[in-house]
Amino acid sequence: MQVRIMSNQQVVRVELGERSYNVVIGSGVRTQIASMVPSAAKRAVIITQATIPFSVEESLVAAGISTRTINIGLGEEFKSLSTIEMILRECAQFGLTRNDVIIGVGGGMVTDIAGFAASAWHRGIAVVHVSTTLVGMVDAAIGGKTGVNLAEGKNLVGAFWQPRGVLCDTDALASLSPRETRCGNGEMAKYHFLTGDDLLSLDLNSRIARCVQIKADIVGSDEREGGRRMLLNYGHTLAHALEIATDFSVAHGEAVAIGLVYAALLARELGRIDDQRVVQHRQVVEGEYGLSCALPAGVSHDELIALMHSDKKALSGLTFVLDGSNGVEPVSPVSVDAVRSALSRMEVR
Ligand SMILES: NC(=O)c1ccc[n+]([C@@H]2O[C@H](COP(=O)([O-])OP(=O)(O)OC[C@H]3O[C@@H](n4cnc5c(N)ncnc54)[C@H](O)[C@@H]3O)[C@@H](O)[C@H]2O)c1
Ligand SMILES: [Zn+2]
Repeated sequence: MQVRIMSNQQVVRVELGERSYNVVIGSGVRTQIASMVPSAAKRAVIITQATIPFSVEESLVAAGISTRTINIGLGEEFKSLSTIEMILRECAQFGLTRNDVIIGVGGGMVTDIAGFAASAWHRGIAVVHVSTTLVGMVDAAIGGKTGVNLAEGKNLVGAFWQPRGVLCDTDALASLSPRETRCGNGEMAKYHFLTGDDLLSLDLNSRIARCVQIKADIVGSDEREGGRRMLLNYGHTLAHALEIATDFSVAHGEAVAIGLVYAALLARELGRIDDQRVVQHRQVVEGEYGLSCALPAGVSHDELIALMHSDKKALSGLTFVLDGSNGVEPVSPVSVDAVRSALSRMEVR
């Protein structure tokens, strides 16, 4: 794959042997789409949403590739098997072959769906992601986790399916809602604690590139979450429970921010870190990334504990990713008493 590198862009390589790929970050990089599709591709199915501020159709057509664009619905209820069926039927009607390509242009919802559709069409064809949200750029579009929701739970059906390449066009970020930007910042705060990097001292392109690099390093060493990839769940055990307990009125990245501070209090409870490190967590999440770290008033601790037990990532008993003298690492089993005690130390708002 030939990727043109312009001076205002950064390229991070996700090293996965024969499935390695480039993530290109910068203003206007969407115009490089044709360089990322397989050279034999004649057709591209583009999956996007009506709200996404740009299209890659023109660049593909200029490169001699026929396109069909599918707009999927807005909202997690459309991240479903019915949407996948609709897409795959369009692929059939369009005559998409195994040499062709699916392209996801959007946030994490779009790229999760595009990746899953590509993993299933003709038992797997090429997919390229053009990420248009901060969450997508630093997290969802990287690493090959794809899938959809069932009524019984989020992301229950899916596949590991790596893209051929990812374009993070920072022009898209200008139209993001403040809440969507906040969610991206929640995930960035997570990366801060995984490495100790002062991400906010970097310019935007470098900051996104650094987050991609951190995720790429972890995915490169544990593609299918046998161990180290679990670190990416820092702050997420409480976050998943909190999203469900509040009927998703707390958005994912906002819940991660609260979950990061909770993880620090739990690590303190277990004697893994000192008070100063807890203060540092609050300072980074609230002071630097501007996110609230308080539990919403009225959320029942019993409900949160029950939900954390049923989280699909809880392998045996309660598992948390926690800070400590060796850095952030998975810790299991964690006693319910410690979990409850740390919850009672959370600020409530
Ligand atoms: N695969 C992974 O590793 C992974 C990681 C994190 C999250 N996810 C998934 O990603 C999804 C969340 O992703 P998200 O936060 O990007 O949200 P999203 O994709 O749902 O997008 C949020 C909203 O913003 C709109 N939007 C997207 N880009 C825009 C832009 N540039 N300007 C204006 N509006 C825009 C979308 O149309 C949508 O309405 C969830 O489904 C989650 O499960 C996956
Ligand atoms: Zn997350």
